[in-house]
Amino acid sequence: MSGLTPIYTALQQHAGKDFLRLHMPGHVGKGIKQEALFRLTTLDLTEIPGLDDLHLPAGVIKESQELLAQAFGAGKSYYLVNGATSGIHTLFLALNQEGEEVLLPRNAHRSFYGGLVLSGATPVYIPVQVESELGIALAVTAEDVNRLLISNPDVNNVFISSPSYYGTSCDIAGIAGITSTHNKLLLVDEAHGAHFAFSPLYPRPALESGADGVVNGLHKTLPVLNQGACLHLSPRLADDAGIAKTLSLLTTTSPSYPILASMELARQFMEGNGERLLEKSYRLSREYRQKINAITGLSCCEQELQTVTGVTGLDPLKILVSVRGSALNGYQFAALLRDKYGIQVELDNPNFILAMFSIFHDRNDWEKFYQALQAIAGAYPGRGGWSKVELPPIPLMLLTPRQAFRASYHKVPVKDALNRVAAEMIAVYPPGIPCILPGELINQEILDYIIYLGKSEVRIQGPQDPSLEYINVIE
Ligand SMILES: Cc1ncc(COP(=O)(O)O)c(C=O)c1O
Repeated sequence: MSGLTPIYTALQQHAGKDFLRLHMPGHVGKGIKQEALFRLTTLDLTEIPGLDDLHLPAGVIKESQELLAQAFGAGKSYYLVNGATSGIHTLFLALNQEGEEVLLPRNAHRSFYGGLVLSGATPVYIPVQVESELGIALAVTAEDVNRLLISNPDVNNVFISSPSYYGTSCDIAGIAGITSTHNKLLLVDEAHGAHFAFSPLYPRPALESGADGVVNGLHKTLPVLNQGACLHLSPRLADDAGIAKTLSLLTTTSPSYPILASMELARQFMEGNGERLLEKSYRLSREYRQKINAITGLSCCEQELQTVTGVTGLDPLKILVSVRGSALNGYQFAALLRDKYGIQVELDNPNFILAMFSIFHDRNDWEKFYQALQAIAGAYPGRGGWSKVELPPIPLMLLTPRQAFRASYHKVPVKDALNRVAAEMIAVYPPGIPCILPGELINQEILDYIIYLGKSEVRIQGPQDPSLEYINVIE
């Protein structure tokens, strides 16, 4: 454990010297007058002497990245200033040649699609296990990964997501055993799990479970400014010059020092206080989950989530509350929480709401949430809930994501889209598993499904025309 904060210390020292700033950024520490932002400008510096260079770190950034790697048990760690997205893009582009196959979950975050476009790699999709009552996609299984590696021996590497948006984690250790047997790399989008490294009460971190490359969205769960994320490499990949080169290619030459400093301070803070605060939150979560489960009509669904095949753990800070036993749907429930009780949740859905707690929420916050849930559920007794919609089988891929991305396209009425190649994604959210992706064939089954979605009230992600009257197809 180290209390050192080389980047922040260098920034503070520099700010204390009252330099005449004859360098970028253009606000020169004076131009932004609004108090809330003005204070930030003193630390918003650039690569001047003493502040190192993110692209070729040899001073405070190098030292800080080494401290980051130590804290997370990595062979090497890199700061990312453009979110977890840039780490995912980097791994795709650095580790795959055009045409090489990558195994990935069908519901992966859109940054995976960006990675496929950038690298030219060909996706092979791993089925995602869904919780049937709530209709949410939770995990991939080690068995599926093994089966697909046997039937697709040319797969270059395996890139999965864990934990899910809902906090469920996969059997990373089991999957790592399989990828290692097949001599493939295992890469993990652990965007929502940066805090796991600081407490044994939380799911085991992917790196510790045997992953070769892991991306953490530090800003999602730690006290870090938006966009702050990091890429960890196991000792096997630590010296991979291609990854360093690709990361530099995809990274701005004007990285934000406030973002860098916030990541460094968060690491220092978590090393000193993380375990204690995470344990406190864990206990609050246990206590309040029980209390919420006792509210007539509501349930936190821990059992339901943990019995889904492939799920091996659950983040205590993600509180998913099923409202299927209430007369309100999740959208109405979330709207009341916002408008009447001043509580904004992370996600709402016909069947549930998802609240993201952090180590900075205290008992009062948990209590306020619980009281509001109790009041709303009491005022709207009844039964609601929507049933899940069966997804059609994954359609035939005629163009790779990169080929589809570069192809010309136009829109056609959906009814005329039979046997055309899609130029856009369509996914019902949740579960967020696309029924069609760019480059895939719109067969009769998919067309019927899209027409059905257009008539239903489900929330759609992806298409330019969300009413689904028109769809973009490749020319
Ligand atoms: C699972 C997952 N991976 C990756 C990302 C991308 O993270 P960022 O917004 O930090 O680029 C997100 C963002 O929501 C996500 O949910």
